[in-house]
Amino acid sequence: MHLHRLHLRNYRNFAEQVLEFPAQGAAIVGDNGQGKTNLLEAIYYLEIFRSFRGAPDEQLVRFGEEVFRVEGRLADDEGHERSVSAAFDRRARKKKVAVNGGEPERLGDALGQVGAVIFSPSDVELVSGGPGARRRFLDIVLSLAEPGYLHAVQRYRQALFQRNTLLRQNSPRALVEAWDEGLVLSGSRVAAARAAWVAERSESFATHYARVAGGQPGRMAYAPSAPEMGGAVAEAQVAVAFREALGRSADREQRRGMTLVGPHRDDLRFTITGAEGAALELRTYGSGGQQRTAAIALRMVEAETIHAARGREPIILLDDVFAELDPGRSQRIVDWIETEEGGQVILTSPKPTDFELRGQVLPRWGIRDGVVLPG
Ligand SMILES: Nc1ncnc2c1ncn2[C@@H]1O[C@H](COP(=O)(O)OP(=O)(O)OP(=O)(O)O)[C@@H](O)[C@H]1O
Ligand SMILES: [Mg+2]
Repeated sequence: MHLHRLHLRNYRNFAEQVLEFPAQGAAIVGDNGQGKTNLLEAIYYLEIFRSFRGAPDEQLVRFGEEVFRVEGRLADDEGHERSVSAAFDRRARKKKVAVNGGEPERLGDALGQVGAVIFSPSDVELVSGGPGARRRFLDIVLSLAEPGYLHAVQRYRQALFQRNTLLRQNSPRALVEAWDEGLVLSGSRVAAARAAWVAERSESFATHYARVAGGQPGRMAYAPSAPEMGGAVAEAQVAVAFREALGRSADREQRRGMTLVGPHRDDLRFTITGAEGAALELRTYGSGGQQRTAAIALRMVEAETIHAARGREPIILLDDVFAELDPGRSQRIVDWIETEEGGQVILTSPKPTDFELRGQVLPRWGIRDGVVLPG
């Protein structure tokens, strides 16, 4: 599938514009602050119905306007069409989503219609930043790839919220424990899916890391909040471990007034092997380049996941990713796209260079002050 038509209205600094994208993609070139990231953000909005930058919907409405709307039309090689649209009304605080003209019953049902992966310089925070960003990453990827995952996350959040409220109010233990089973059922579904995904993809992550870095492999491992929960990937097994961990933490939880174990405290850990053969955590000891490499390898693994889940090559959105990479690493990303993920590529760059993909130079479009000028 490729995006062949995009219609933007009052999205960020775009007023109204219709773009027809070639199947191979395009390179969007323009100075800083002209709307390059906004454009990719709008495309990816149709994948997850929120900003990949984590911006609230209100911020996406063009200054002085009330409603933004984004509509994308996708087509496959056989000419099958699909349309996805999203609109947000700032005043009514209402979001409206449609797939092929019909409104899905739940937003979760409409996720992943575009089948895209976005690479951005801010991805480095996935490696260097706090665990919350990594959990959010896992939740997005798994919501896109696994039916039922998002629902489990939502149920878990609800149970956690209730349980934490009771703990904070210093409620009797029996009241708190009334939420344990709900917490364990939804939480073990979440934790098991994450652990299984990491286990399944860790080899591939190591390979991508080594290839992009042009050297040794990097490692990715799931790091549960409680030692009992380590290593388990089967849901029933995780549930048993989770119950145990809750039992062990009950006193501490009462003192601290919050739930201390469970997927809301889990993490994803990235390491490389140091000189002495010891594992070096990239978050703490990695160089900027090593952290960026791990973030890229993570997006590549995400692309494979989306590919497998949708049964087709994802659309690759590259937001100025070559700027901070050495030429060797940049070339290896291009090689990866050419050999493994041969779908549509839409990239941005502040520099007017030509991007050659599969022996063809990507059409170069300009962008200025929220107006794209197809070349
Ligand atoms: N809601 C909004 N309404 C109007 N303009 C907005 C809105 N939100 C952001 N902008 C404008 O969008 C511009 C930034 O766009 P964007 O982040 O896409 O730039 P960019 O081309 O990616 O730049 P860089 O090369 O620095 O990354 C800023 O000028 C900002 O003021
Ligand atoms: Mg940008």
